[in-house]
Amino acid sequence: MPAPALEAVSLARVFPGPPRVEALREATFTVERGEVAAIMGRSGSGKSTLLNLLGLLDRPTRGELKIGGLDAAPLGERGRAKLRAKSIGFVFQSFHLVGELTALQNTALPLLYSGCRAAQRARRAAAALEQLGMAGRMDATAATLSGGEKQRVALARASVQRPAVILADEPTGNLDAASEQMVLELLVGLAHAGSAVVLVTHNPQVAAAATVRYLMDDGVLSRAPALDGLDMAADNALDRGVLSATPGDLGALNCAETVRLPPVVPDQVPSSEPRADPRPRLRTRRARKRG
Ligand SMILES: Nc1ncnc2c1ncn2[C@@H]1O[C@H](COP(=O)(O)OP(=O)(O)OP(=O)(O)O)[C@@H](O)[C@H]1O
Ligand SMILES: [Mg+2]
Repeated sequence: MPAPALEAVSLARVFPGPPRVEALREATFTVERGEVAAIMGRSGSGKSTLLNLLGLLDRPTRGELKIGGLDAAPLGERGRAKLRAKSIGFVFQSFHLVGELTALQNTALPLLYSGCRAAQRARRAAAALEQLGMAGRMDATAATLSGGEKQRVALARASVQRPAVILADEPTGNLDAASEQMVLELLVGLAHAGSAVVLVTHNPQVAAAATVRYLMDDGVLSRAPALDGLDMAADNALDRGVLSATPGDLGALNCAETVRLPPVVPDQVPSSEPRADPRPRLRTRRARKRG
């Protein structure tokens, strides 16, 4: 059995202050490849703190963290940077794009040390942006993009080399319904292709696409109680092969290959109810009863 993509044992983070803040209290959980874990919870409850630890951007005060079975604690800064570059894609709450670079250049950044040639890097980056509806804005500098466009470039950059772990802090916070759907499909598709995805969200519809949900409350992480419709939505995604219980093999990065992910199968919508937005959606419980 391969090691879980992420494994945290009693992970804790105290900010010494003053004032002292116990931002994360002893979180224990695993995320397997192929899983999408959603973390919900009120503002200030510790969600970004946890994501920063999982992304090796911060060090825990106590506890253990393993990434793909590798203990992160003994690693020095260089080792952590290397592991991060190879295995983790991060979508920051505030994007962190390079303002003077174009959307395409920002997206291609993680591929700089991949061994792929410049033209191959650009092709992969362009495919990742296209998949998020950004084909027309690739050559715009990041500083000139709208919030939702920046968010999609940040996601393209995080996913362009198909990392084993994708961490996304409110990846749909600035998006309209159609873009939100695109982002969800991408994240679910990445899980299907073998990544472990952890996303932070305030949006129940986004959480509905996850295979497992957690609540963060004042630094305490717990499994979310089943919410009406949410487990059903994840079941639907599994039924339809959008999510996979047996993820594919990520394998080594192939420079010639672009990041096309498996298509999401559209719902069977009765012809009497035309849908304004033709993009596929995860089915709701009501839709399932109907069809
Ligand atoms: N570097 C820091 N130094 C001191 N306190 C911090 C630091 N970073 C975060 N905190 C505190 O830790 C707590 C958790 O913050 P965190 O950013 O994880 O919340 P969050 O759940 O992501 O909130 P939001 O939904 O608003 O993004 C907050 O009380 C915050 O003020
Ligand atoms: Mg946050």
